[in-house]
Amino acid sequence: MNSFLELCRARRSYRKYTAEPVGKAQLDRILQCALMSPSGKRLNPWEFYVTTDTTLIRSLKDCRQMGTTMLDTAPVAVAVALDSEKADTWQADGAIAALNLQLAATDEGLGACWCHILERDNAEERVRQAFGIPQNLRVLCLVTIGHKDEERQQYDLQKLPYQKIHFTA
Ligand SMILES: Cc1cc2nc3c(=O)[nH]c(=O)nc-3n(C[C@H](O)[C@H](O)[C@H](O)COP(=O)(O)O)c2cc1C
Repeated sequence: MNSFLELCRARRSYRKYTAEPVGKAQLDRILQCALMSPSGKRLNPWEFYVTTDTTLIRSLKDCRQMGTTMLDTAPVAVAVALDSEKADTWQADGAIAALNLQLAATDEGLGACWCHILERDNAEERVRQAFGIPQNLRVLCLVTIGHKDEERQQYDLQKLPYQKIHFTA
């Protein structure tokens, strides 16, 4: 991607993926970006649980009643888990790391999507068990990553909600 503006324009939620596996070098670079995420007081309360086991990923499809279509085809899922005792900014820290994962995937030409887990039905416990995540960690979300199998429009700079920007004199 030539610029951060172009990267932001191209980042969309992709929920359909081809069966092509994500290359190990690509996945490693994406995970490196997660590890460079900023966090409050640099406490880094996150842990990233990564799987390419498609049977495991598919098995989580019904962990919530809706919003999990990306789990039907994703070849990679990263569970973003956090120690809520370690940092009172843990939810913000996790969200930033999840976004870094998505932006890094976009930069690699891949698609990615956030699947929310925290406080959604029994999803947190299901994901904990599937990934072997210890009880002391909260699970914020899964970020799915894969080769895109759907078209999404890039953001149009002319159509952004500029009314949400408030300049104070
Ligand atoms: C906090 C958060 C939770 C989200 N949870 C889900 C989800 O559970 N399932 C889903 O399909 N998309 C989920 N998304 C993706 C949003 O639906 C998506 O970002 C939004 O519709 C804007 O579309 P875009 O990402 O293509 O720009 C989530 C995004 C965020 C930031």
